[in-house]
Amino acid sequence: MKRSRLVTYSTYLKIPHLLSLQEPRTKARDEMLFICVHQAFEIWFRLSIFELEKARAAIDADRLSAAVHALRRVTTILRTATPAFEVIETMHPYDFLEFRAKLEPASGFQSIQFREMEFLSGRKDRRYLTVLEASGRRALKRRLAEPTLWDAYVALLKRHRLRVGSDAEILKTAVQIMERPDRHPLWDITEALFVYDQGFLQWRMRHVQMTMRMIGEKAGTGRTGAKALVGAGYDPLGQAGGVAYLKTTLAKVFFPLLWEAQTQLTRP
Ligand code: HEM
Repeated sequence: MKRSRLVTYSTYLKIPHLLSLQEPRTKARDEMLFICVHQAFEIWFRLSIFELEKARAAIDADRLSAAVHALRRVTTILRTATPAFEVIETMHPYDFLEFRAKLEPASGFQSIQFREMEFLSGRKDRRYLTVLEASGRRALKRRLAEPTLWDAYVALLKRHRLRVGSDAEILKTAVQIMERPDRHPLWDITEALFVYDQGFLQWRMRHVQMTMRMIGEKAGTGRTGAKALVGAGYDPLGQAGGVAYLKTTLAKVFFPLLWEAQTQLTRP
């Protein structure tokens, strides 16, 4: 093989291309930090979506060890990536103000991959489509039409001849599974889904905490974006977006019945 055809670190990972993607719009000292942290999260979201799709396919095929493995990987990504909000907190809020206004109306609120993770896991909300550009809408429309991880799990319960006729029945079934940690064949997958959901909630909590430090109760940059895209239509961000909006998202778990099951769990 010719020497020039040998794969190298740089050609395999497309490092020059990757390093050409950080383009600050201002001369502010901390804008590079801001871009890199966001892009790093988007790369982790990319891998997470890949693994969540794997988990869903594995549940459908009754390959439960593979599904648990994929879900644990996503949980590990969330647990290890979430502390990276600390890196962005090395920027002083006063230094953030040097370039924050230049970002409007961009906001993490428009992250398509984040919404894909939500839709794929179990929280579909078509109203979010209205605030995205065409390519984002296409990706999310596809997700809207697909079964979620939760759908795959409920179908699995059904194949095991467990009762899933209503939410009340699913809740009862989940409690019965959780009561038998060492014996129930669906205990591991149920636990893996729950722990993944918990990891995602931790991301949300850490992000809102970091936002409180960085902008206090100021309006979020996404507010103007949402307004520009949908005019007077659906406004998911409420009056000002920002921290007030983010706090409402803390109630958005993917598998509410598994959380409710913790309340129902008793031990004789
Ligand atoms: C200085 C740092 C940051 C600040 C001040 C900030 C602020 C905000 C605010 C205020 C919102 C609510 C929407 C709005 O009003 O615009 C939001 C949403 C969001 N941000 Fe951040 N953010 C920061 C960093 C990050 C980073 C590093 C990520 C990583 C990808 C991120 C991802 C998101 C996502 C996914 C949402 C949508 C959340 C949802 O709708 O549930 N943000 N951010």
